[in-house]
Amino acid sequence: MLKGFRGRIFYFDINADVFHLEKGYHYLEDGLLLVKDGKVLRAGSYDELSGEVTQKYECIEFGDSFIFPGFIDAHVHSVQTKSIVSYGNQLLQWLQTYIFPNEKKFDNTEYAREHTRFFFQQLLKNGTTTAVIYPAVFDASVEAVFETAQLLNMRIISGKTWMDRNAPDCLIEKPEKSLKSVSGQIEKWHRKGRAHYAITPRYAITSSPDSLKVAASLLRTYEGLYIQTHISENLQEVAMVNHSYSDHKGYLDVYDSYGLLTPYTLLGHGIYLSSGELSRIAQAGASIVHCPTSNLFLGSGLFDFHKTIEHGVKMAIGSDVGGGTSFSMLSNLHDAYKISALKNNLNFENSDYNTFATMNALEAFYFITLGGARALHLENRIGSFLQGNEADFVVIDPSMNQLLSYRLDGTDTVEEMLFAILMLGNEQIVKATYLMGEEVYPFKV
Ligand code: GUN
Ligand code: ZN
Repeated sequence: MLKGFRGRIFYFDINADVFHLEKGYHYLEDGLLLVKDGKVLRAGSYDELSGEVTQKYECIEFGDSFIFPGFIDAHVHSVQTKSIVSYGNQLLQWLQTYIFPNEKKFDNTEYAREHTRFFFQQLLKNGTTTAVIYPAVFDASVEAVFETAQLLNMRIISGKTWMDRNAPDCLIEKPEKSLKSVSGQIEKWHRKGRAHYAITPRYAITSSPDSLKVAASLLRTYEGLYIQTHISENLQEVAMVNHSYSDHKGYLDVYDSYGLLTPYTLLGHGIYLSSGELSRIAQAGASIVHCPTSNLFLGSGLFDFHKTIEHGVKMAIGSDVGGGTSFSMLSNLHDAYKISALKNNLNFENSDYNTFATMNALEAFYFITLGGARALHLENRIGSFLQGNEADFVVIDPSMNQLLSYRLDGTDTVEEMLFAILMLGNEQIVKATYLMGEEVYPFKV
Protein backbone atom coordinates (compact mmCIF):
# COMPACT_ATOMS: atom_id res chain seq x y z
CA MET A 1 0.00 0.00 0.00
CA LEU A 2 1.40 3.33 -1.08
CA LYS A 3 0.54 6.48 0.89
CA GLY A 4 1.62 10.08 0.44
CA PHE A 5 1.97 12.82 3.06
CA ARG A 6 2.31 16.37 1.80
CA GLY A 7 3.65 19.25 3.87
CA ARG A 8 6.84 21.08 4.78
CA ILE A 9 9.33 18.28 5.23
CA PHE A 10 12.47 18.65 7.32
CA TYR A 11 15.05 15.97 8.12
CA PHE A 12 18.79 15.44 8.38
CA ASP A 13 20.71 13.63 5.72
CA ILE A 14 22.07 10.26 6.80
CA ASN A 15 25.60 11.62 6.18
CA ALA A 16 25.07 14.78 8.26
CA ASP A 17 28.02 15.77 10.44
CA VAL A 18 27.15 17.16 13.87
CA PHE A 19 29.77 19.90 13.38
CA HIS A 20 28.43 20.95 9.97
CA LEU A 21 24.70 20.48 10.22
CA GLU A 22 24.03 23.51 8.02
CA LYS A 23 25.23 21.35 5.12
CA GLY A 24 23.43 18.23 6.25
CA TYR A 25 19.68 18.78 6.14
CA HIS A 26 16.83 18.57 3.67
CA TYR A 27 14.03 21.11 3.74
CA LEU A 28 11.20 20.80 1.26
CA GLU A 29 8.81 23.72 1.41
CA ASP A 30 6.21 21.72 -0.50
CA GLY A 31 7.32 18.17 0.13
CA LEU A 32 5.94 14.69 -0.31
CA LEU A 33 6.74 11.73 1.88
CA LEU A 34 5.90 8.47 0.17
CA VAL A 35 5.37 5.49 2.43
CA LYS A 36 5.04 1.90 1.32
CA ASP A 37 4.25 -0.93 3.73
CA GLY A 38 5.23 1.22 6.71
CA LYS A 39 8.64 2.19 5.28
CA VAL A 40 9.88 5.38 3.62
CA LEU A 41 9.84 4.97 -0.14
CA ARG A 42 10.95 8.50 -1.01
CA ALA A 43 10.92 12.00 0.39
CA GLY A 44 11.19 14.85 -2.09
CA SER A 45 9.57 17.88 -3.57
CA TYR A 46 5.87 17.42 -4.32
CA ASP A 47 6.17 18.59 -7.89
CA GLU A 48 9.01 16.25 -8.75
CA LEU A 49 7.78 13.17 -6.94
CA SER A 50 4.13 13.40 -7.89
CA GLY A 51 5.21 13.68 -11.53
CA GLU A 52 7.38 10.58 -11.28
CA VAL A 53 5.03 8.26 -9.41
CA THR A 54 2.66 6.51 -11.76
CA GLN A 55 1.08 4.23 -9.15
CA LYS A 56 -2.15 5.43 -7.51
CA TYR A 57 -1.89 6.52 -3.89
CA GLU A 58 -3.89 8.30 -1.24
CA CYS A 59 -2.36 11.71 -0.46
CA ILE A 60 -2.87 13.22 2.99
CA GLU A 61 -2.49 16.99 2.80
CA PHE A 62 -0.92 18.80 5.72
CA GLY A 63 -0.70 22.23 4.10
CA ASP A 64 1.72 24.52 5.95
CA SER A 65 2.38 21.99 8.71
CA PHE A 66 5.85 20.52 9.17
CA ILE A 67 6.59 16.82 8.84
CA PHE A 68 9.56 15.77 10.97
CA PRO A 69 10.96 12.32 11.69
CA GLY A 70 9.36 11.18 14.97
CA PHE A 71 11.06 12.51 18.08
CA ILE A 72 13.32 10.29 20.15
CA ASP A 73 13.14 10.44 23.94
CA ALA A 74 16.25 8.57 25.02
CA HIS A 75 15.61 8.52 28.78
CA VAL A 76 12.19 8.41 30.43
CA HIS A 77 10.62 6.57 33.37
CA SER A 78 7.30 4.87 32.65
CA VAL A 79 6.57 4.60 36.36
CA GLN A 80 7.03 8.24 37.30
CA THR A 81 4.26 10.06 35.43
CA LYS A 82 2.28 10.48 38.67
CA SER A 83 5.40 11.86 40.35
CA ILE A 84 5.99 14.60 37.80
CA VAL A 85 6.60 18.01 39.45
CA SER A 86 6.93 16.70 42.99
CA TYR A 87 8.19 19.73 44.85
CA GLY A 88 11.37 20.83 46.31
CA ASN A 89 14.04 18.20 46.85
CA GLN A 90 17.45 17.42 45.45
CA LEU A 91 17.82 14.08 43.66
CA LEU A 92 18.47 11.67 46.55
CA GLN A 93 15.76 13.07 48.86
CA TRP A 94 13.35 13.33 45.92
CA LEU A 95 13.84 9.65 45.07
CA GLN A 96 13.18 8.58 48.66
CA THR A 97 10.25 10.92 49.26
CA TYR A 98 8.29 10.68 46.03
CA ILE A 99 9.70 8.27 43.48
CA PHE A 100 10.24 5.05 45.39
CA PRO A 101 6.81 5.06 47.11
CA ASN A 102 5.11 5.59 43.74
CA GLU A 103 7.14 2.94 41.92
CA LYS A 104 5.98 0.43 44.53
CA LYS A 105 2.44 0.63 43.11
CA PHE A 106 3.62 -0.95 39.86
CA ASP A 107 3.77 -4.40 41.42
CA ASN A 108 0.08 -4.68 40.55
CA THR A 109 -0.71 -5.78 36.99
CA GLU A 110 -3.92 -3.76 36.60
CA TYR A 111 -2.35 -0.61 37.99
CA ALA A 112 0.76 -1.09 35.86
CA ARG A 113 -1.29 -1.56 32.67
CA GLU A 114 -3.51 1.43 33.24
CA HIS A 115 -0.72 3.84 34.13
CA THR A 116 1.63 2.57 31.44
CA ARG A 117 -1.10 3.14 28.84
CA PHE A 118 -1.41 6.73 30.03
CA PHE A 119 2.37 7.11 29.82
CA PHE A 120 2.45 5.93 26.18
CA GLN A 121 -0.40 8.27 25.31
CA GLN A 122 1.68 11.15 26.62
CA LEU A 123 4.61 10.12 24.43
CA LEU A 124 2.47 9.93 21.31
CA LYS A 125 0.60 13.18 21.85
CA ASN A 126 3.99 14.87 22.12
CA GLY A 127 5.24 13.39 18.86
CA THR A 128 7.66 10.95 20.49
CA THR A 129 7.86 7.81 18.39
CA THR A 130 10.86 6.08 19.99
CA ALA A 131 11.53 5.95 23.70
CA VAL A 132 14.18 4.45 25.94
CA ILE A 133 12.26 3.52 29.04
CA TYR A 134 12.98 2.75 32.69
CA PRO A 135 10.10 0.78 34.27
CA ALA A 136 10.30 -0.38 37.93
CA VAL A 137 11.73 -3.57 39.39
CA PHE A 138 8.41 -5.43 39.11
CA ASP A 139 7.64 -7.81 36.25
CA ALA A 140 4.21 -6.23 35.93
CA SER A 141 5.76 -2.84 35.11
CA VAL A 142 8.12 -4.34 32.53
CA GLU A 143 5.44 -6.45 30.88
CA ALA A 144 3.13 -3.45 30.66
CA VAL A 145 5.80 -1.48 28.77
CA PHE A 146 6.63 -4.19 26.23
CA GLU A 147 2.99 -5.22 25.73
CA THR A 148 1.81 -1.67 25.14
CA ALA A 149 4.65 -0.93 22.71
CA GLN A 150 3.89 -4.14 20.84
CA LEU A 151 0.22 -3.24 20.54
CA LEU A 152 1.18 0.16 19.11
CA ASN A 153 3.97 -1.26 16.96
CA MET A 154 6.29 1.29 18.53
CA ARG A 155 10.08 1.07 18.67
CA ILE A 156 11.30 1.04 22.25
CA ILE A 157 14.32 0.10 24.30
CA SER A 158 13.56 -0.96 27.86
CA GLY A 159 14.29 -3.38 30.67
CA LYS A 160 13.64 -3.89 34.35
CA THR A 161 15.19 -1.22 36.61
CA TRP A 162 16.87 -3.14 39.39
CA MET A 163 18.41 -2.24 42.71
CA ASP A 164 19.93 -4.33 45.48
CA ARG A 165 20.63 -1.70 48.14
CA ASN A 166 19.90 1.82 49.40
CA ALA A 167 16.19 1.70 48.57
CA PRO A 168 13.07 0.47 50.40
CA ASP A 169 13.01 -3.31 50.95
CA CYS A 170 10.04 -3.79 48.66
CA LEU A 171 12.04 -2.38 45.70
CA ILE A 172 15.28 -4.26 46.10
CA GLU A 173 16.16 -7.83 45.29
CA LYS A 174 19.21 -10.05 45.36
CA PRO A 175 21.29 -9.96 42.17
CA GLU A 176 20.71 -13.70 41.59
CA LYS A 177 16.98 -13.04 41.48
CA SER A 178 17.44 -10.16 39.04
CA LEU A 179 19.63 -12.37 36.87
CA LYS A 180 16.87 -14.95 36.61
CA SER A 181 14.00 -12.60 35.91
CA VAL A 182 15.97 -10.40 33.51
CA SER A 183 17.07 -13.49 31.55
CA GLY A 184 13.43 -14.51 31.19
CA GLN A 185 12.44 -11.03 30.03
CA ILE A 186 15.25 -10.90 27.48
CA GLU A 187 14.16 -14.19 26.01
CA LYS A 188 10.57 -13.02 25.84
CA TRP A 189 11.03 -9.51 24.48
CA HIS A 190 14.49 -8.76 23.09
CA ARG A 191 14.37 -8.18 19.32
CA LYS A 192 10.69 -9.16 19.20
CA GLY A 193 8.96 -6.85 16.76
CA ARG A 194 10.38 -3.37 17.32
CA ALA A 195 11.54 -3.96 20.91
CA HIS A 196 15.08 -4.08 22.26
CA TYR A 197 16.05 -5.03 25.77
CA ALA A 198 18.26 -2.81 27.95
CA ILE A 199 20.00 -4.07 31.05
CA THR A 200 19.05 -1.39 33.57
CA PRO A 201 20.88 -1.30 36.90
CA ARG A 202 19.44 1.94 38.28
CA TYR A 203 22.79 3.55 39.23
CA ALA A 204 25.87 2.94 41.33
CA ILE A 205 24.29 4.00 44.64
CA THR A 206 21.64 1.28 44.45
CA SER A 207 23.94 -1.31 42.80
CA SER A 208 26.40 -3.42 44.77
CA PRO A 209 29.53 -4.76 43.07
CA ASP A 210 27.76 -8.14 42.81
CA SER A 211 24.84 -6.66 40.92
CA LEU A 212 27.19 -4.89 38.47
CA LYS A 213 28.89 -8.25 37.90
CA VAL A 214 25.50 -9.76 37.10
CA ALA A 215 24.84 -6.93 34.62
CA ALA A 216 28.15 -7.71 32.89
CA SER A 217 27.40 -11.42 32.75
CA LEU A 218 24.05 -10.72 31.06
CA LEU A 219 25.81 -8.55 28.47
CA ARG A 220 28.15 -11.42 27.73
CA THR A 221 25.38 -14.00 27.51
CA TYR A 222 22.97 -12.29 25.12
CA GLU A 223 23.73 -10.50 21.88
CA GLY A 224 22.75 -6.96 21.01
CA LEU A 225 21.64 -5.81 24.44
CA TYR A 226 21.68 -2.19 25.45
CA ILE A 227 22.67 -1.12 28.94
CA GLN A 228 21.36 2.06 30.52
CA THR A 229 21.98 3.72 33.84
CA HIS A 230 22.41 7.10 35.53
CA ILE A 231 25.74 8.83 36.07
CA SER A 232 27.10 12.07 37.61
CA GLU A 233 23.78 13.87 37.87
CA ASN A 234 24.04 15.50 41.27
CA LEU A 235 26.97 16.49 43.51
CA GLN A 236 25.68 14.66 46.58
CA GLU A 237 25.21 11.54 44.45
CA VAL A 238 28.75 11.81 43.03
CA ALA A 239 30.19 12.17 46.54
CA MET A 240 28.29 9.09 47.72
CA VAL A 241 29.51 7.01 44.81
CA ASN A 242 33.09 8.15 45.37
CA HIS A 243 32.72 7.14 49.01
CA SER A 244 31.12 3.73 48.47
CA TYR A 245 33.36 2.82 45.53
CA SER A 246 36.47 4.46 46.96
CA ASP A 247 38.82 1.96 45.32
CA HIS A 248 37.76 3.28 41.88
CA LYS A 249 39.15 6.20 39.91
CA GLY A 250 35.76 7.93 39.75
CA TYR A 251 32.10 7.43 38.88
CA LEU A 252 32.64 6.30 35.30
CA ASP A 253 35.34 3.88 36.36
CA VAL A 254 32.81 2.05 38.55
CA TYR A 255 30.80 1.06 35.46
CA ASP A 256 33.87 0.73 33.25
CA SER A 257 35.77 -1.60 35.54
CA TYR A 258 32.83 -4.04 35.57
CA GLY A 259 32.74 -4.10 31.78
CA LEU A 260 29.57 -2.04 31.43
CA LEU A 261 30.91 0.54 29.00
CA THR A 262 30.00 -0.64 25.50
CA PRO A 263 28.88 1.06 22.28
CA TYR A 264 25.34 0.21 23.43
CA THR A 265 25.70 1.95 26.80
CA LEU A 266 23.36 4.89 27.43
CA LEU A 267 24.47 7.08 30.32
CA GLY A 268 21.78 9.39 31.68
CA HIS A 269 22.78 12.95 32.72
CA GLY A 270 26.60 13.04 32.91
CA ILE A 271 26.75 16.63 34.17
CA TYR A 272 29.88 16.29 36.29
CA LEU A 273 32.05 14.10 34.08
CA SER A 274 35.69 15.12 33.71
CA SER A 275 37.43 15.59 30.40
CA GLY A 276 39.18 12.25 30.91
CA GLU A 277 35.85 10.54 31.53
CA LEU A 278 34.31 12.08 28.40
CA SER A 279 37.27 10.88 26.33
CA ARG A 280 36.86 7.38 27.72
CA ILE A 281 33.13 7.39 26.88
CA ALA A 282 33.94 8.50 23.33
CA GLN A 283 36.59 5.81 23.00
CA ALA A 284 34.12 3.15 24.16
CA GLY A 285 31.52 4.46 21.66
CA ALA A 286 28.96 4.88 24.44
CA SER A 287 26.42 7.72 24.50
CA ILE A 288 25.27 10.35 26.97
CA VAL A 289 21.63 11.28 27.33
CA HIS A 290 21.18 14.90 28.35
CA CYS A 291 17.99 15.50 30.36
CA PRO A 292 17.44 19.28 30.39
CA THR A 293 14.08 19.82 32.09
CA SER A 294 15.02 17.33 34.78
CA ASN A 295 18.39 18.93 35.45
CA LEU A 296 16.71 22.29 35.98
CA PHE A 297 13.78 20.96 38.00
CA LEU A 298 15.96 18.99 40.41
CA GLY A 299 18.59 21.74 40.46
CA SER A 300 21.13 19.15 39.38
CA GLY A 301 23.37 21.38 37.30
CA LEU A 302 24.21 22.76 33.89
CA PHE A 303 25.22 20.14 31.33
CA ASP A 304 27.94 21.17 28.89
CA PHE A 305 26.64 19.82 25.58
CA HIS A 306 29.36 21.52 23.56
CA LYS A 307 32.20 20.05 25.58
CA THR A 308 30.50 16.66 25.31
CA ILE A 309 30.31 16.61 21.53
CA GLU A 310 33.77 18.20 21.20
CA HIS A 311 35.10 15.14 23.00
CA GLY A 312 33.50 13.00 20.31
CA VAL A 313 30.73 11.65 22.53
CA LYS A 314 27.41 10.82 20.88
CA MET A 315 24.51 12.52 22.55
CA ALA A 316 20.73 12.18 22.72
CA ILE A 317 18.07 14.00 24.73
CA GLY A 318 15.78 12.53 27.37
CA SER A 319 12.73 13.99 29.06
CA ASP A 320 13.51 12.00 32.24
CA VAL A 321 9.90 12.39 33.39
CA GLY A 322 9.19 12.40 36.40
CA GLY A 323 12.42 14.32 37.11
CA GLY A 324 11.73 16.12 33.85
CA THR A 325 8.76 18.45 33.74
CA SER A 326 7.52 17.74 30.21
CA PHE A 327 7.09 14.87 27.79
CA SER A 328 7.51 17.36 24.97
CA MET A 329 10.89 17.01 23.34
CA LEU A 330 10.40 20.57 22.07
CA SER A 331 10.10 21.81 25.66
CA ASN A 332 13.18 19.78 26.51
CA LEU A 333 15.08 21.43 23.66
CA HIS A 334 13.91 24.80 24.89
CA ASP A 335 15.56 24.12 28.25
CA ALA A 336 18.61 22.55 26.57
CA TYR A 337 19.09 25.82 24.71
CA LYS A 338 18.86 27.89 27.89
CA ILE A 339 21.20 25.56 29.79
CA SER A 340 23.78 25.81 27.01
CA ALA A 341 23.51 29.60 27.00
CA LEU A 342 24.02 29.78 30.77
CA LYS A 343 26.84 27.28 30.73
CA ASN A 344 28.58 29.15 27.96
CA ASN A 345 28.43 32.40 29.89
CA LEU A 346 29.78 30.71 33.03
CA ASN A 347 32.62 29.28 30.94
CA PHE A 348 33.72 32.84 30.17
CA GLU A 349 35.90 32.72 33.27
CA ASN A 350 37.89 29.81 31.89
CA SER A 351 39.27 28.58 28.60
CA ASP A 352 36.09 26.65 27.68
CA TYR A 353 34.32 29.82 26.56
CA ASN A 354 33.25 29.57 22.93
CA THR A 355 31.15 32.02 20.99
CA PHE A 356 29.37 29.18 19.21
CA ALA A 357 28.75 26.96 22.21
CA THR A 358 25.10 27.88 22.67
CA MET A 359 22.95 25.16 21.13
CA ASN A 360 21.51 26.19 17.78
CA ALA A 361 18.24 25.05 16.25
CA LEU A 362 19.85 22.54 13.90
CA GLU A 363 21.82 20.93 16.71
CA ALA A 364 18.69 20.82 18.83
CA PHE A 365 16.54 19.09 16.19
CA TYR A 366 19.43 16.80 15.31
CA PHE A 367 19.65 15.48 18.88
CA ILE A 368 15.98 14.46 18.97
CA THR A 369 16.01 12.90 15.47
CA LEU A 370 19.06 11.61 13.59
CA GLY A 371 21.57 12.32 16.37
CA GLY A 372 19.40 10.47 18.87
CA ALA A 373 19.05 7.57 16.43
CA ARG A 374 22.83 7.46 16.01
CA ALA A 375 23.32 7.40 19.78
CA LEU A 376 21.06 4.33 19.77
CA HIS A 377 22.66 2.78 16.64
CA LEU A 378 19.27 2.92 14.97
CA GLU A 379 20.00 5.47 12.22
CA ASN A 380 19.27 2.91 9.55
CA ARG A 381 15.76 2.46 10.88
CA ILE A 382 14.61 5.74 12.41
CA GLY A 383 15.56 9.39 12.83
CA SER A 384 15.43 10.51 9.19
CA PHE A 385 13.51 9.94 5.97
CA LEU A 386 16.24 7.80 4.48
CA GLN A 387 14.75 5.42 1.93
CA GLY A 388 13.80 2.14 3.62
CA ASN A 389 13.61 3.64 7.12
CA GLU A 390 10.55 3.01 9.24
CA ALA A 391 7.97 5.71 8.59
CA ASP A 392 7.66 7.15 12.09
CA PHE A 393 6.90 10.85 11.91
CA VAL A 394 5.26 13.79 13.59
CA VAL A 395 3.18 16.54 12.03
CA ILE A 396 3.70 19.93 13.67
CA ASP A 397 1.11 22.61 12.99
CA PRO A 398 2.37 26.01 14.18
CA SER A 399 -1.04 27.58 13.64
CA MET A 400 -2.23 25.71 16.74
CA ASN A 401 -0.25 28.31 18.70
CA GLN A 402 -1.14 31.89 17.86
CA LEU A 403 2.07 33.49 19.12
CA LEU A 404 4.23 30.98 17.27
CA SER A 405 2.28 31.51 14.09
CA TYR A 406 2.66 35.25 14.44
CA ARG A 407 6.39 34.91 15.11
CA LEU A 408 6.95 32.54 12.18
CA ASP A 409 5.38 35.01 9.84
CA GLY A 410 8.51 37.15 10.00
CA THR A 411 11.13 34.43 9.66
CA ASP A 412 13.45 34.14 6.68
CA THR A 413 15.54 31.05 7.25
CA VAL A 414 14.89 27.42 8.13
CA GLU A 415 17.01 27.81 11.24
CA GLU A 416 14.97 30.76 12.42
CA MET A 417 11.75 28.80 11.90
CA LEU A 418 13.05 25.77 13.76
CA PHE A 419 14.27 27.92 16.61
CA ALA A 420 10.88 29.58 17.01
CA ILE A 421 9.20 26.16 16.96
CA LEU A 422 11.42 24.73 19.68
CA MET A 423 11.28 27.82 21.88
CA LEU A 424 7.52 28.39 21.65
CA GLY A 425 6.21 24.93 20.77
CA ASN A 426 5.10 21.99 22.86
CA GLU A 427 2.39 19.30 22.68
CA GLN A 428 -0.13 21.96 21.68
CA ILE A 429 1.25 22.07 18.13
CA VAL A 430 1.43 18.32 17.54
CA LYS A 431 -1.27 17.70 14.95
CA ALA A 432 -0.60 14.01 14.35
CA THR A 433 1.85 11.22 15.12
CA TYR A 434 2.50 8.24 12.87
CA LEU A 435 4.18 4.91 13.55
CA MET A 436 5.18 2.85 10.50
CA GLY A 437 2.95 5.05 8.37
CA GLU A 438 -0.13 4.54 10.57
CA GLU A 439 -1.75 7.40 12.46
CA VAL A 440 -1.61 6.73 16.22
CA TYR A 441 -2.42 10.25 17.42
CA PRO A 442 -5.03 11.85 17.56
CA PHE A 443 -6.31 8.80 19.43
CA LYS A 444 -9.24 6.91 18.05
CA VAL A 445 -11.45 6.34 21.09
N1 GUN B 1 19.12 8.44 39.51
C1 GUN B 1 18.74 7.22 39.93
N2 GUN B 1 17.43 7.03 39.74
C2 GUN B 1 16.96 8.16 39.18
C3 GUN B 1 15.66 8.55 38.74
O1 GUN B 1 14.68 7.83 38.84
N3 GUN B 1 15.58 9.80 38.21
C4 GUN B 1 16.65 10.62 38.08
N4 GUN B 1 16.50 11.82 37.55
N5 GUN B 1 17.87 10.26 38.50
C5 GUN B 1 18.02 9.04 39.04
ZN1 ZN C 1 16.28 8.96 34.98
